[in-house]
Amino acid sequence: MNRKILVANWKMNPQRESEAIKLTKAIDAKNVVICPPFPFFKSVKSVIKKASLGAQDAFWEERGAYTGEVSPLMLKKLGVDYVIIGHSERRRWLHETDEMINKKVKVALKVGLKAILCVGEPLSVRKKGLQAAKNFVKNQLREDLKNIYNLKPKTYNLIVAYEPIWAIGTGKPDNPKETAEMSRFIKEYLKPKTYNLKPKVLYGGSVTSLNIGRILEYNEIQGALVGGASLKVNEFKKIIKIASK
Ligand code: 13P
Repeated sequence: MNRKILVANWKMNPQRESEAIKLTKAIDAKNVVICPPFPFFKSVKSVIKKASLGAQDAFWEERGAYTGEVSPLMLKKLGVDYVIIGHSERRRWLHETDEMINKKVKVALKVGLKAILCVGEPLSVRKKGLQAAKNFVKNQLREDLKNIYNLKPKTYNLIVAYEPIWAIGTGKPDNPKETAEMSRFIKEYLKPKTYNLKPKVLYGGSVTSLNIGRILEYNEIQGALVGGASLKVNEFKKIIKIASK
């Protein structure tokens, strides 16, 4: 198994800066991307030795009068390498549309961040089968990546995270075999459109130390986006150990 990427998406956790620092020190490894809430960025960065820093979102303009938003350029200058874009929680609670996500991906790539684009279907779609899920994801990719090809971002700058919505925080991960099939599908779909860009595909949704091995066994899956388990030191350490074999 090649060394796989693990993206720790802390979401709106932990509650205290001291906890964020403690957690960072414990999970600091080369193949880990730590995505803390914005207020903890500086302190997390100050203790990171091996891991990379990621943001959970960034706005679609580099500067201007956009109250409450965070500029991708500011993040880049702060030493941030990755940015998660289009997470289903933002699509749901902040009503982010494919159009907004498309603009965010483009500007993130433009300023030199590695964009982790999240896609994935709801349960109602998956109930109709994997083919229906593929169609759903294909439509998201088509809209979210519209015209990114003009930017000619370097191969490694676009990462796709397949996160079926029904698998997030439910304790019910996707069947790894089907995740691998979806990853292959995503790569195939993007091949002609991205002019031989080869985006990495990650999986997210109820990843734990008990299931990560079976997920990462597949060459088509280059890593995982981990929510809940990334906040538990011992659990995440086990995940890092398995992903680093
Ligand atoms: P969980 O690992 O808690 O299911 O969350 C997945 C996720 O949303 C990562 O972005």
